[in-house]
Amino acid sequence: MAKPSFRAPKGTRDILAPESSRQRALIDSFAHRVELAGYGNVASPMFEEVGVFLRIGESTDIVTKEMFTFESKSASEPITWALRPELTASVVRAYVQHRPVPPWKVWYEGPQFRYERPQAGRYRQFTQVGIEVLGVDQPDIDVEVIALAADFYRDIGMQNVSLDLNSLGDPSCRPAYLDALTEYFQDHSAELSEQSQHTLKVNPLRVLDSKREQDQAMIDAAPVMVDFLSAETGEHFAGVRAGLDKLGIKYEISPRLVRGMDYYTRTIFEFVSTALDNAQNAVGGGGRYDALAESLGGPATPGIGFALGVDRILLACDAEGVFPAPESAVKVFVVDVSGAEVALELTHELRNAGIGADQAFGGRSMKAQMKAADRSGAPWALLIGEDELAAEVVTVRDLRGETGQIQVPRADIVPELLKRLI
Ligand code: HAM
Repeated sequence: MAKPSFRAPKGTRDILAPESSRQRALIDSFAHRVELAGYGNVASPMFEEVGVFLRIGESTDIVTKEMFTFESKSASEPITWALRPELTASVVRAYVQHRPVPPWKVWYEGPQFRYERPQAGRYRQFTQVGIEVLGVDQPDIDVEVIALAADFYRDIGMQNVSLDLNSLGDPSCRPAYLDALTEYFQDHSAELSEQSQHTLKVNPLRVLDSKREQDQAMIDAAPVMVDFLSAETGEHFAGVRAGLDKLGIKYEISPRLVRGMDYYTRTIFEFVSTALDNAQNAVGGGGRYDALAESLGGPATPGIGFALGVDRILLACDAEGVFPAPESAVKVFVVDVSGAEVALELTHELRNAGIGADQAFGGRSMKAQMKAADRSGAPWALLIGEDELAAEVVTVRDLRGETGQIQVPRADIVPELLKRLI
């Protein structure tokens, strides 16, 4: 019988070290940035009742095509669950369930699942970091949220990130815009692609999101929401822009920007990496969702947040040559050719003193152990041969070749290394 040869499912990846430590360092950096601004971490389940995610919009790709759903195993309690395709709906569900005192400022990280057509920067399992704020209506919070994302990109060294901004209005003004948009597209429907003609019937706003060549001229001349904003939403949008200007955050008003979820109201935004030349260059996005809490059974509560795609951000960092993987935590590699088991004891002692230490196993040759030391990324090797054993010393060799080697009494090795490592 042929041996089975399993591979990670299509659209998923095994992320191995050092890339995995790079991903963790990125998440740590994000956590630091947002915790400084008063955001607390929320960890919610990876799956929810599918109804939670239907609020993303019955006409969106995420809901109609991309949800990984499965049934409960209980015949008496039939439930359809879905792996989370994003975290905003889950966080708002948690808000409605626990009713924390607003403003509730939270951050999250973790895998999301969407059954998409995999390509560079687009996966079926991908990691997001993000924040959500429930209970604040003022434009200053929109500015805070956007600034945190912009500052985070800068923290990790990304420079080629642009910010697109738009307002989608609210129930006081969007219906009039939708009427105008529908009328416009209906008048030109023969020129639209077949898919967009279908989208038009379900959600005219979504036609603006079509990337099909045939639709572009029609989209470019379509009416825009910012011309239809009510006095109040217009003022809110002006407040957001003024705040961004005050903080020196550059943005482009992108009047045809719509996003992939239907829950958005008023401010929406997207961060694009200009260093990525593939189609998947959106490295983050978000906006307001002032009616989501109510639609999930909670009290009317305004909300705003964003999510950033960790996998794509790391691709963009590669393209910019920034944010390398962190150095190995192993600082010393013990090479023991003395025949006695010094390495076992010494690595244990070093680790307990807080010094990253590793060793080779199996009594291998000096050459093989030195190779392992190089591979470990450790800057120092501790050599123990018969001479060292007899003289009760350890030879400390600088593997970066900067300071050569010295001998240190065995009893002094931990304090000596601590001195050199700090
Ligand atoms: P989103 O635009 O769907 O928004 O996703 C945010 C980011 O996740 C994208 O900009 C992209 O970087 C990354 N991303 C999305 N899909 C994939 C994929 N298939 N593969 C790799 N990366 C991907 C949301 O998820 C909203 N929940 C954002 C939000 C938070 N709005 C308000 N609060």
